[in-house]
Amino acid sequence: MRIDILTLFPEMFESPLSCSILKRAQDRGIVDIVLTNIRDFATDSYRKVDDKPYGGGPGMIMMPGPVFDCAEYAQKLSPEKGRVILLTPQGQKFNQEKAGQLSEERRLILIAGKYEGFDERIRIGLGAEQISIGDYVLSGGELAAMVIIDAVVRLLTGALGDEDSPKDDSFSQGLLEYPQYTRPEVFRGMKVPDILLSGDHKKIAEWRHQQAIERTKKSRPDLLKDGNKL
Ligand code: 6GU
Repeated sequence: MRIDILTLFPEMFESPLSCSILKRAQDRGIVDIVLTNIRDFATDSYRKVDDKPYGGGPGMIMMPGPVFDCAEYAQKLSPEKGRVILLTPQGQKFNQEKAGQLSEERRLILIAGKYEGFDERIRIGLGAEQISIGDYVLSGGELAAMVIIDAVVRLLTGALGDEDSPKDDSFSQGLLEYPQYTRPEVFRGMKVPDILLSGDHKKIAEWRHQQAIERTKKSRPDLLKDGNKL
């Protein structure tokens, strides 16, 4: 997979992309992540990329010219046409299902803007979909882009070690993950549940499923409403 990130702050991505699973996935050639600075496509001597909204109101809006030119430039960096995504709190809410869908794409182009938003003609002209990562406002789309990249890349074949499989992750079966324990068997008086030491794999699987349901009921009852498999 190739992911292009269009942003005013490419330096924000350096550390997250150079650690852990995202680093390993790039080193293994599973994902190629390319940063392009939208400001390089400004056309005036101040390198201006945003302006006041028509009709008045607070804040600054991303101008269409630089974002458009940047997106067209980025599309041409590779023959594969990318699925264009604008990061904005006005978008559809991101979730594990969406992460799965995006992980099937050959190429994504993520555009991070300022929180006040993009000139509407950017979305229309680029045929972009809009994604939000939740019901709160961030100062820009950069952190949201990183969240999406992390969630998507770890689903790509070979990104995780053999021992960590995404199939038991929270949400992947419509439930939160069951409680986990590792050594020691007793920690500050708290013991690992006997069933996990029993060696009875069928019983363990049943216990875990039950625990996942209990946990989901407690923390996220909304996940148990229609459409979720138990
Ligand atoms: Cl994608 N952008 C911004 N600025 N704020 C957000 C968001 C995105 N998702 C949730 N809040």
